[in-house]
Amino acid sequence: MLHLQEAPIVRQGAITETSMPPWNDRKGRLSVLKAGVFAALFIPGLWSAWQWQQGDLDPKPVTEALHLTGAWALRILLLSLAITPLRTIVHWPRLIDVRRMVGVGALAYLIIHFGLYIYDQKLDMLRVASEIVLRFYLTIGFIALIGITALGVTSTDGWVQRMGALNWNRLHRTIYWLLIFCLVHAFLQSKVDVSEPVLDTGLFLALMGWRSLSKRDLKGPLPLAGLAVAASLATMLIEAAWYAGKTGVPWTRILAANFDPDMAFRPAQWVLIVVLALVPLRLIGQRRAPAPRKVLKARTA
Ligand code: HEM
Repeated sequence: MLHLQEAPIVRQGAITETSMPPWNDRKGRLSVLKAGVFAALFIPGLWSAWQWQQGDLDPKPVTEALHLTGAWALRILLLSLAITPLRTIVHWPRLIDVRRMVGVGALAYLIIHFGLYIYDQKLDMLRVASEIVLRFYLTIGFIALIGITALGVTSTDGWVQRMGALNWNRLHRTIYWLLIFCLVHAFLQSKVDVSEPVLDTGLFLALMGWRSLSKRDLKGPLPLAGLAVAASLATMLIEAAWYAGKTGVPWTRILAANFDPDMAFRPAQWVLIVVLALVPLRLIGQRRAPAPRKVLKARTA
């Protein structure tokens, strides 16, 4: 769905994804993978609702819920973007079956996020509109929301056929720009502690780095390890630049916090761990992938 790098191939007369329950595969059979991911997408929302009901979000439950839904929307968006790389890394082609579902899941959290904002403004739509026009962080959030909604609506097989694969791919590649808008919105909304948007930005950079490695056919474990280090360093620099700009603390001191064993785990370290964890997965993926010679033999047999 959202942000496909290649449009799904839709054959004439095939059962389309939208004409059956989300937990079925294209042949109409129950898919454990799709059912599992579908159920998992509800967990953050149900957990947040439970916390609200228990009073854990007091004294400002709506504001807290705004934070939670925004943060989860961003995480799920990043996850949907990670599906194509993961599919290559672990050599699991069927992962592609859940990409659309995960993208739609992120959109659902965003719609709730916007709904909560409207509720927080006492349903005064005139005020909502003027705030969106006047406040930069809301303007870019709104543009991102409209863009992601457009990608969600056009994510179906029917739209792929209607638009043609080339145009459809072009439209869905705008997700990368929309995500930058989302990240800027999250940074500006985070006020004091920007650890989460810094982490999200680091993971986003790692995803962009993977795209450029893929284009150069550098999909092995070693380039991946290099990407982990590069993305982690970039994350450190972004964090240092943000806090130095905001607080005037020397950026070298902020950078040094990443190497202080007494400090809690920093976003750059998480980025390093997450991307490095893909290295053994890549080794497994390479073993699972059929050897090129075998494929050639099979094709010529
Ligand atoms: C019309 C669109 C949007 C509106 C009106 C809106 C509004 C808000 C508001 C008011 C907050 C802060 C709550 C507070 O502290 O008082 C917030 C936080 C947040 N929003 Fe949005 N938002 C919009 C779109 C988006 C989009 C497209 C994303 C992308 C995923 C997003 C992600 C976030 C995140 C991650 C936070 C939490 C930041 C943090 O606390 O770490 N929002 N939003």
